[in-house]
Amino acid sequence: MFSFFKKNKKDVQTTNKPAVVEIEDYSDVAPIGKYIKEQTGINFDRQQGILKSKMTSFCKIRDIRSFQTCLRRVLAESELKQDLINYITTNETYFYRELRQIHDFVDHVKQEHKKVDILCAPCASGEEPYSLAIALLEANVSYHEFTITAIDISTEALELAKRAIYKERNVKNLSDDLKSKYFDFKENNYVLKEQIKNLVTFAQINVFEKEFQELGKFDYVFSRNMLIYFDKETKLKAKEILESMLKDKEKAVYFGHADLY
Ligand SMILES: C[S@@+](CC[C@H](N)C(=O)[O-])C[C@H]1O[C@@H](n2cnc3c(N)ncnc32)[C@H](O)[C@@H]1O
Repeated sequence: MFSFFKKNKKDVQTTNKPAVVEIEDYSDVAPIGKYIKEQTGINFDRQQGILKSKMTSFCKIRDIRSFQTCLRRVLAESELKQDLINYITTNETYFYRELRQIHDFVDHVKQEHKKVDILCAPCASGEEPYSLAIALLEANVSYHEFTITAIDISTEALELAKRAIYKERNVKNLSDDLKSKYFDFKENNYVLKEQIKNLVTFAQINVFEKEFQELGKFDYVFSRNMLIYFDKETKLKAKEILESMLKDKEKAVYFGHADLY
């Protein structure tokens, strides 16, 4: 009566064939470069050598034997896609970067006499939005008078932003007074005080995705040192999107000095 469950000897596949081992092939990185550009805007067209060496390490660490397999898996696995984005983005930043723009922004906010909404896109590991908060408080703008929303495509950078523990090189532009006022110095690190951390809302968003524009409109938009990684066409597209985030079309986005060239 159990014959239904028994396998006919003839049907049983013998699997003593040798396992197929994929041949290692890290030669053609162009399809991954194209995918990265489509997804993030970041352009490696003139840095194929750098991309190839970065991607070879990315694959080897994960035991992925070819760029073709890597791309196939990135397309299918959202976690691996995010790992790739975290890996290829450059998150370099520091407090009070391009300070003149920050002073200019503070002067404008002081003339507003109303609550202002500020967007920082991208924020990397948080130094820029926290700098804006500190600069406003230093100019006697009360924390009731502003909101700061900060976004980045990298989850790794955002983890660091939310943790807000910095090294000396990240705070090198701050005076000793500012360091002691806004940070606790613990085990050689500068730990940002909770009251400043609480002034910034972080979110993982790609500026090219619709979630970005769903954030609403802002009085001030900072977007510094991201467009430098894009090609001309992508820069223009990003510029248009970022400008569309302003409540007042007469105002300008704060871009980094090298961003638009
Ligand atoms: C060099 S950091 C700039 C940080 C800060 N604005 C500054 O000027 O110091 C560039 C950041 O852009 C982010 N980024 C790149 N492409 C992005 C995209 N499509 N959407 C959102 N963030 C992106 C990267 O993850 C990286 O953290």
